[in-house]
Amino acid sequence: MKTYLPLKDDLSCHLQAAAKAALPDLPAGIEFAIVPAGRPEFGDYQCNGAMAAGRAMGRPPRDVACAVREAALAHPHPALASIEVAGPGFLNLRLDDAWLAACVSQIADDERLGAPRPGAGRTIVLDYSSPNVAKPMHIGHIRSTVIGNALDRLHRFLGYRVIADNHLGDWGTQFGLLLLGFREFADPTAYEASPIEELERVYVLSYQRSQQDERWMEAARAELVALQRGDPGRRELWQSFVDHSLREFEKIYRRLGIRFDLVRGESWYNDRLPGVIERLARMGLARESDGALIVDLSEEHLPVCIVRKRDGGFNYATTDLATVLSRDEEFAPDAIVYVTDERQQLHFRQVFAIARRLGVTRRLVHVWFGLMRLPEGTFSTRQGNVIKLERLLDEAEQRALEIVRKNSPDMPPEQQAEVARAVGLGAVKYADLSQNPQSVVTFTWEKALAMDGNSAPYLQYACARIASVLDKYAAQFPVERLATAAIRLSEPVERRLAAALVRFPEAVMDAAAACRPNVLADYLFELSQLYSTFYQNVPFLKAPEGIRESRVRLCMAVARALRTGLDLLGIETPSRI
Ligand code: ARG
Repeated sequence: MKTYLPLKDDLSCHLQAAAKAALPDLPAGIEFAIVPAGRPEFGDYQCNGAMAAGRAMGRPPRDVACAVREAALAHPHPALASIEVAGPGFLNLRLDDAWLAACVSQIADDERLGAPRPGAGRTIVLDYSSPNVAKPMHIGHIRSTVIGNALDRLHRFLGYRVIADNHLGDWGTQFGLLLLGFREFADPTAYEASPIEELERVYVLSYQRSQQDERWMEAARAELVALQRGDPGRRELWQSFVDHSLREFEKIYRRLGIRFDLVRGESWYNDRLPGVIERLARMGLARESDGALIVDLSEEHLPVCIVRKRDGGFNYATTDLATVLSRDEEFAPDAIVYVTDERQQLHFRQVFAIARRLGVTRRLVHVWFGLMRLPEGTFSTRQGNVIKLERLLDEAEQRALEIVRKNSPDMPPEQQAEVARAVGLGAVKYADLSQNPQSVVTFTWEKALAMDGNSAPYLQYACARIASVLDKYAAQFPVERLATAAIRLSEPVERRLAAALVRFPEAVMDAAAACRPNVLADYLFELSQLYSTFYQNVPFLKAPEGIRESRVRLCMAVARALRTGLDLLGIETPSRI
């Protein structure tokens, strides 16, 4: 049987074709796209296309809807039982029960739950996390790391070749102050033990001195020039800053289950910067102004962008231009996606505009997010707005351990610790991923670790509980029966659960296309809530043979959808909680 998944796309095409046939003068750009129905009594999917079409064509939307319905019914879609016109001109679509049962049965046996690989043959470069060397990650980098990694997993799952690149901030003016300050203030033992903390301390001291002492500032500039010229001693010390910082970052990445394909810091592009300037000059895109070299972006309604400073130094934008050009050439990607906080929106608009003028035609996407708000006292170690991510993760595991001990006192301590690790880290990730990236998120432990809300522990618990249904079944009945049992949708809640399962591919594809992991999180939460209703309202093991097997198979499909979906968000699902 052909499944027609993702169904939303397939049915949208079906209606679009019907609209084209029924309405020869349909203006371009009017879409008959469908969305999941808001309420079960409206069917499974809804389409509002006739409203816009009616307005554009000066016809009553209801007439338009009726005409489209007629045309659609002339070529019946195998997945549809009915199409109804409702209210002022909405189209309500209802899935065919037999088709739905057969489709769910098929995806229940499919590891990918029917998800296609639309990204096959395509490449995306994903620039995420990208913290600055010699500084602890701030909350913005945490969000970039967690959101970026979810986008990485989603795209790989959909068949894309993903080049995950950690674009470290390892170059720039702060290194002059660091090199100079290091010789004067560093404590080698502290540097060995906790390099980032020590470098941060050194930097602050050196910076403070530069504010009072002009000669110190001069000397720092000279250090930077010497570094950029490639002086071996400075280069070596700088390299040790980078290596030590990276080792610290690696600890966090390993803990979070994150790996990059490339770790190319800003310094990697250093030799290419003069070439960028030359190219801009050759194409007549840059001009001198006050000793600096600038690109005028008034055509794009953007402020001018300085690509070479008065002192001859390059800046962040120049490096990013070199980076775009290099990625464009090396990977020929379909898209380059950057994940950073909202404060870099202007930067990327400028960089993208200049890249366009330089002839880059790839899709360039800036995924930005708001900063996470931290109510006072949320984290036990807080310094200004810099959160020690490591401490945050420790605290998450600690708090999760208390919950696990309370819920499963009989579990061996080692397993308790392992479960607490998965639950604690999952809670922190999910608190971030379940929100629209662009909204202000306020983190609280209560919400992140809630066992009964939209949280990782809730979903992890749902997975574990569903798995226990299978165990109970296996204790009483021969499991082979499950393999051949047909899925039957006898109760309304069963049918709703099936219709939700069929939406798994849509949820994954929509989340990836919009670069919004919360689209998938919302879906998973909805699925688990439907499952709860199902579980509480229909008998399982006590149901008659046939129905019983069908229900257990549905359970297993839900468990697989939740497990696969959480994995795409980078969240583990322990078999017991
Ligand atoms: N290092 C930068 C920061 O901490 C983020 C870099 C983002 N990526 C890029 N290609 N500019 O703000």
